[in-house]
Amino acid sequence: MEKKKDIVMSGIRPTGFLHLGNYFGALRNYVRMQDAYTCYFMVADLHALTTLRETRELKQHVRRVLAENIACGLDPDKVALYCQSHVPETAELYLFLNMLAYKGELEKTPTFKDKVRLQPENVNAGLLTYPVLQAADILLHRATLVPVGKDQEQHLEIARNYVNRFNQRYSEVFPEPYAFNFGEDLIKVPSLDGAGKMSKSENQMATLYLADDDESIRKKISKAKTDSGALAPGAPMPETIANLFLLLKLVRPQDVLDKFQADYQAGTIRYGDMKKELAEGMVAFITPIREKAEHIRNDEAYLRQVMEQGAAKARASAAVTLQLAKDAIGLNYF
Ligand code: TYM
Repeated sequence: MEKKKDIVMSGIRPTGFLHLGNYFGALRNYVRMQDAYTCYFMVADLHALTTLRETRELKQHVRRVLAENIACGLDPDKVALYCQSHVPETAELYLFLNMLAYKGELEKTPTFKDKVRLQPENVNAGLLTYPVLQAADILLHRATLVPVGKDQEQHLEIARNYVNRFNQRYSEVFPEPYAFNFGEDLIKVPSLDGAGKMSKSENQMATLYLADDDESIRKKISKAKTDSGALAPGAPMPETIANLFLLLKLVRPQDVLDKFQADYQAGTIRYGDMKKELAEGMVAFITPIREKAEHIRNDEAYLRQVMEQGAAKARASAAVTLQLAKDAIGLNYF
C-alpha cells in the first residue's frame, strides 16, 4: 500500500502586491513541496477583511495572488489552490475553535498588538480572532507542515494550543502543525532601507515586488542603504550590509557571494558594484515571473477553472475533518 503523504497547508492575504519576502518565505517552499506532499494553498481573502475597509480592489488582488502563485511554479493540478471564502467549512471550524480561544491570550499576540497600533480606529473582533481563523485554515485539512516566513511563527504556536485543547477536551482529532522551511530557519526578508521587512502595502520603495518592472528594480536597489561610515577592524557587519548580502545570496550563485564577502573582509568592497550585481540578479529572477503572471492574470476562464477545481479539492478534505470534529464534540444527534 502507498504510504500516506504528509499534509501541507499555507495561505497568503490578497492585500497588495506579492514581494520577495512572500516568495522566499512562502512560495518557494510551496513549489518545492508540491510533488512530495498533499498540498492545500489558498488566498486568505477572509483574513484580508480584518484590515480592508475598501474591498473594490479585492477581486484584482485575489486574481493577482493566484496568478503569481502559478507563475512561481505552482501547478494547480498537483495541489489544491483555492480561495478561503470558497470553503465555507472554514467558518464552521473557526466557530468551534473560538470556544477554545481565550481573549487574554489573543490580546497578547504580537500581530494583534501591531494592528492595534496601525489601525486604532478599527480594532474589530475579526482582528482579535485572526489566529483562530488561521488555525481553522490549517486544521481543516489536518495539516502538519505549514510553509511560512518567520513572522507567522507565533500563529503556529497558537494553532498547536488549540489542537491540544481540542484533543484533550473532546477526543483526538488533530495533529500538531509546525512552521516549515526545508530544514532551515524560517526566513525574514528585510526591506532595502534596513527599517523592517518587505511588505505588501507598506514601505513600497524599499520592497521588491514580483510585479516590478526592470527599471523600478534597478532604481530601488541603487537607493538601498549601504554606507554607514568607516568600520573598525573586526566590527560586526552593519545590518543594512548584511541585508544586501542576504538578498544577493537569494538570487546569485555562491561564488559571486564569496567574492563580495572577501572584498568586504579586505575592506575593498565597492557597494556600487555589489548593487549592480544584485540588481541584475533580481531583474533576471523577477522578469519571467512578472511576465508569466501577467499572462495568467488576464485569462479569466482559466483562473475561474483553477478556483473551482481548488475549492472542490479543499471542500472534500474539509468535509471529512468537520465530520470528525462534530463527532468528537458530540454534535451528532441521529
Ligand atoms: P501574509 O499574506 O502576510 O504573507 C504570506 C507569506 O509570506 C511570508 N512573508 C515573509 N517571509 C519572509 N520575509 C518577509 N518579509 C515576509 N513577508 C511575508 C509570510 O510569513 C507568509 O508565509 N496570516 C498569513 C496568511 C494565512 C496563513 C493561513 C498562512 C492565513 N491562513 C494558514 C499559513 C497557514 C499572512 O498574513 O501571511
